[in-house]
Amino acid sequence: MKVYLIGFMGCGKSTLGQKVAKILGIDFIDTDKIITKESNLSIKSIFEELGEAAFRSLEADIINKIGEKVYTKDVIISTGGGLPCEENNIKVIKNTGLSIYLKLNTDILERRLKYGKDKRPIISLTTDENLNYTINDLLQKRSYYYEKADEIIICNQMSDKEIIDKIISLIENYKSNNTNKI
Ligand code: S3P
Repeated sequence: MKVYLIGFMGCGKSTLGQKVAKILGIDFIDTDKIITKESNLSIKSIFEELGEAAFRSLEADIINKIGEKVYTKDVIISTGGGLPCEENNIKVIKNTGLSIYLKLNTDILERRLKYGKDKRPIISLTTDENLNYTINDLLQKRSYYYEKADEIIICNQMSDKEIIDKIISLIENYKSNNTNKI
């Protein structure tokens, strides 16, 4: 079974996904890590040297491959923040596993993204003063795709432990209701 974690930069997809995978003894993969490993370039360098369109095309290739691949073990897939925001990519996600949107509001995202902006090309040129507006604007545009997830966890008031437990219970429910599909 494939479990896709989707959501805005800084919502905790990788950190929490890794923890859930460890607790359940299943595999974890991160689309950004696959892209950096395969291209031998950091995300920042890909954006600078090849441009955003090239990065999006690498993302599309990766998600298509993941969607098609038969994994022997259950796997949690952390997806880059912009990856699901493309019709075909969200379709692959929806058709090949359980998708979970880790939803956070703009103010919390801003607090989390303020430091280490330079590693994230999408917001690296935004001033601290404009960060809230930029996040809000992008979040509004992307929500249309994020909200297509099978499950949405509103994480604003939740501790990491609560979010992890919720992800685990969603996985368990999905498994018991879809024994024929997985
Ligand atoms: C991006 C999010 C990043 C990374 C790239 C672009 C985006 O991943 O894929 O910098 O467009 O939101 P995280 O969501 O893991 O930060």
